[in-house]
Amino acid sequence: PKRVAILISGGGSNMIRLVESMEGDHPARAVLVASNDASAAGLERAARLGVPTAAIDHRPFKGDRAAFEAELLKPILAAKPDILCLAGFMRVLTPAFVARFEGRMLNIHPSLLPLYPGLHTHQRALDAGDAEAGCTVHEVTAVLDTGPILGQARVAVEPEDTAETLAARVLGMEHRLYPAVLRRFAAGDRSPVWL
Ligand code: GAR
Repeated sequence: PKRVAILISGGGSNMIRLVESMEGDHPARAVLVASNDASAAGLERAARLGVPTAAIDHRPFKGDRAAFEAELLKPILAAKPDILCLAGFMRVLTPAFVARFEGRMLNIHPSLLPLYPGLHTHQRALDAGDAEAGCTVHEVTAVLDTGPILGQARVAVEPEDTAETLAARVLGMEHRLYPAVLRRFAAGDRSPVWL
């Protein structure tokens, strides 16, 4: 099977869904969960699922992204991943890092890209009066939150929605979308998943 490393920064609910999906006849297996924050709750959850973990705190590098990435790369390269999945990983990666994993790094973003790259996606969708919101899995390229779209899931925006309620509804779809895309991608199929 393909070897998958997952990068997280927080609770890792998407990571859990990815790890749990990789069993049986699935074309991939999780080999590493790494975080830029040693206190990320997802690390303990991953360990409980039997996946090796690594934590590289970005803060001592004081904005020197290349130096941070050089440390982050060590456990990643040691795990020999075929595919790298960003799952709520909140550090911007340099073009040099991205180039190393060109064509085999995925990201999930909580908006219907190309709408709302960056942060505060749900509030921006509400402010714009959008009738629909959603999430996107895409291949990572050097420009943040662009790159070929591998799947998208849509939800209706309700009149009483706040950024929090909308985020929760979208997250539920993220949990369905990301495993569906990874299964297809790991099997060598880049045709997009639409949910
Ligand atoms: C998810 O909603 C993901 O789409 C978002 O962070 C959350 C992580 O949740 N990612 C980004 O905003 C990337 N810029 P999780 O840790 O529970 O998977």
